[in-house]
Amino acid sequence: MERILVIGAAGQIGSELTLALRKIYGNDNVFATDLRMGPKELIDSGPYYVLDVMDDKRLIHFVIRHRITQIYHLAAVLSGNAEKLPLQAWHINMQSMLNILDLAKEVEDLKKIFWPSSIAVFGPSTPPYQTPQNTVMEPTTVYGISKLAGERWCEYYNLKFGVDVRSIRYPGLISYKTEAGGGTTDYAVEIFYEAVRNGAYECFLREDTELPMMFMDDAISATINLMEAPAEKVKIHSSYNLEGISFTPAQLVAEIRKHMPELAVTYKPDFRQAIADSWPKSIDGSVAREHWGMEVKYDLARMTELMLREIKSKYGK
Ligand code: NAD
Ligand code: SER
Repeated sequence: MERILVIGAAGQIGSELTLALRKIYGNDNVFATDLRMGPKELIDSGPYYVLDVMDDKRLIHFVIRHRITQIYHLAAVLSGNAEKLPLQAWHINMQSMLNILDLAKEVEDLKKIFWPSSIAVFGPSTPPYQTPQNTVMEPTTVYGISKLAGERWCEYYNLKFGVDVRSIRYPGLISYKTEAGGGTTDYAVEIFYEAVRNGAYECFLREDTELPMMFMDDAISATINLMEAPAEKVKIHSSYNLEGISFTPAQLVAEIRKHMPELAVTYKPDFRQAIADSWPKSIDGSVAREHWGMEVKYDLARMTELMLREIKSKYGK
């Protein structure tokens, strides 16, 4: 029987992934943990603990006491926030993952680790369209540097110690359950909330900034597919490219205006523009499709319709 620990469970991905895992493995077998208290649905549906992943002694104790067999390590400082405090972000992002990789090497029951990478591993010298799985990687953000180093550590622990660590380079994720946590792609979530709450949005990226994105349901399915894939199908232990949809703020606004023609949008690019400009515009996910199967169900139109419907219902509109 699997006993799963989710670290960073209160965040944008964790709050949905934990519930999806509880449906598969049973509520009592999925332990949600975070620095802070999470949404009520998460606390009410299964075990929830406040736990700092940087506290390695408590982490080891927790993993042994609860006989954890898999860890999903989602705690990190995202791209926008990381640029404000680069060394702190580096420390948190790297040390937390090293704590977990080392635990997986030492604790016999602990069989599988999921650690997310990002499109931020790529930089301005990477081919920006249909960015291949293996290509030039010269990130210019501290977040991207930490993700690239993380990928190398994952491969190292797999090669040297046989740790079964699996990883995806998530694109910008769009969801309605939990608001985004300090990244550069956050505009594509914020705009829906502001459209519904105020009918207006000031975008922090230029209107022609194309970025790779994905609706959360597709990202959760991909994550679980990868983690459930037979070991022989997972041939890459650094991280897999994941191909979703690509669009610019202007294209997203046009799609939202099909439902809300009155939406007012202005553009005021800030420091996150330089981060976005350094990232790819679209991703080639053929290797993930070939190795363990990956299906994208949401295009821009379907995602927009669902986001608006769910956020309107959240605000009783
Ligand atoms: P988030 O910021 O929404 O959530 C992260 C959670 O980690 C937060 O709830 C935070 O409280 C928690 N946390 C922070 N420090 C912690 C600590 N020391 N101990 C325990 N918990 C701690 O982030 P997210 O969007 O859910 O992203 C999760 C992971 O996926 C991150 O590694 C991120 O880099 C990666 N990722 C996310 C996206 C995206 O678009 N959301 C894209 C690419 C990669
Ligand atoms: N969505 C993330 C960010 O913008 C990408 O890793 O930081």
